Amino acid sequence: MEFNIALLRGDGIGPEIVDGAAAVLEKIGEKFGHRFNFTPYLIGGCAIDETGEPLPKETVEGCLASDSVLLGAVGGPKWDGLPGEKRPEKALLGIRSALGLFTNLRPASLYPALRAASPLKDEIVGKGFDIMIVRELTGGIYFGDRGFRQGKYGEEAFDTEAYSFTEIERIGRVAFETAMKRSKRLCSVDKANVLETSRLWRRIMHELSEEYPEVEYRDMFVDNAAMQLVRDPSQFDVIVTSNMFGDILSDEASQITGSIGMLASASLGAGTRGMYEPIHGSAPDIAGQNKANPTATILSAAMMLRYSFGLTEEAGAVEAAVNKVLDAGFRTADLLCAGEGDPLSCTEMTTKIIEAI
Ligand code: IPM
Ligand code: MG
Repeated sequence: MEFNIALLRGDGIGPEIVDGAAAVLEKIGEKFGHRFNFTPYLIGGCAIDETGEPLPKETVEGCLASDSVLLGAVGGPKWDGLPGEKRPEKALLGIRSALGLFTNLRPASLYPALRAASPLKDEIVGKGFDIMIVRELTGGIYFGDRGFRQGKYGEEAFDTEAYSFTEIERIGRVAFETAMKRSKRLCSVDKANVLETSRLWRRIMHELSEEYPEVEYRDMFVDNAAMQLVRDPSQFDVIVTSNMFGDILSDEASQITGSIGMLASASLGAGTRGMYEPIHGSAPDIAGQNKANPTATILSAAMMLRYSFGLTEEAGAVEAAVNKVLDAGFRTADLLCAGEGDPLSCTEMTTKIIEAI
C-alpha cells in the first residue's frame, strides 16, 4: 500500500527525531512492501523565522491533503518573548484544531528493561503498569476565552474553561470504547468538587457508563490522581480527562516509565487521519547535538501504522524492535543509569532499532 505522510519536524530536537522515525518507516516499507511518501512542512519557530507565521496556510493544507502527520516538537527560547498568538505552541494547538483531532491517546507502560530508570521504588514498579491516557485535545481552557483586563487589583489576565456536552460525550465514548478493547477499567479524572465543567464532565461520564455495563468505571479528583499515579500506577488502565489535566498527568505518567523520551502519542479525529508526536518538547538544550532519544517519535510512528493505516503487524514489528534494543541494553543518555556504559546517539539508537526490525 502507499501512504502520504506530512512531516512537521518543527524546532529543537524535532528534526533529528522525526528523521529517525521516518527512517524506521522506510525500513517497514521495505520489509512489508509499502510505500511511504514524505512531504515536509514548516511549523512552530522555524515557520515564524521563514514566513512570519507559526502555522502557515500551506502547512494546514498539506496536512489536510495527507493520509497522516508525523510531528517532532515546537518551541524554544528564541521565540519565548513573542505574544501568545504568535508563539510556536499556538501552531500546535492550531493544527490539532484544524485537523479536528479531539482525541489524544498517550500510552505509558513500564518496559521491564527500563525498570531501573524509573524513579519509583521497586516495590511499586515491580507490579508493572500499562496505562492509556485519553486526553481531550481541542477544547477546555486551551481554547477558551482569554485576555487581559482591569480587575479588582488592577491589571489581570484570564483564561476560561468551557466544555460542551458534545465535546465531553465524544471523548467519553472513545474512552469507553478504548477500555472495552483493553482490560475494561476506566477512571475519569476531573475536579468536580470545584469546577462546573468537571461536574458536567462527570454527569456525562456516568450516563455513558450505563451504556457500557461491562466497563468497571470510577471517577477520581485530579489531585488524588496525581498522587495515586506515583503511589500505585498499576491500579490504572484507561484514564480519560480534560485537555489540561491530561497534559499534566501524561508528563507525570511518562516520568515513572523511566524517561519522557519514551512516550508516544496519537491524536485522532473522526476519520483515519491522525497526527503522531512524542509527548516531550523540543529540548533546546540538546538540539542539534545528536543526543536526543528518538524512541518516543519512533513509537508514535508505530501508532500511526496501527491507528491510521490499520497496519497492525507492522506496528507490532516496530514495538518489538524497540523492546529488543532496550533488552539488549542499548540506551540513549536520558535512559542511562549509573554503570550502564556510554549512551548511544540519536542516529545510533535509530540504527539499532532499524536493524532489529
Ligand atoms: C503537549 C505539550 C503541548 C500541550 C504544548 C507544547 C502546547 O505540552 O503536547 O503535551 O500542552 O498540549
Ligand atoms: Mg505536555
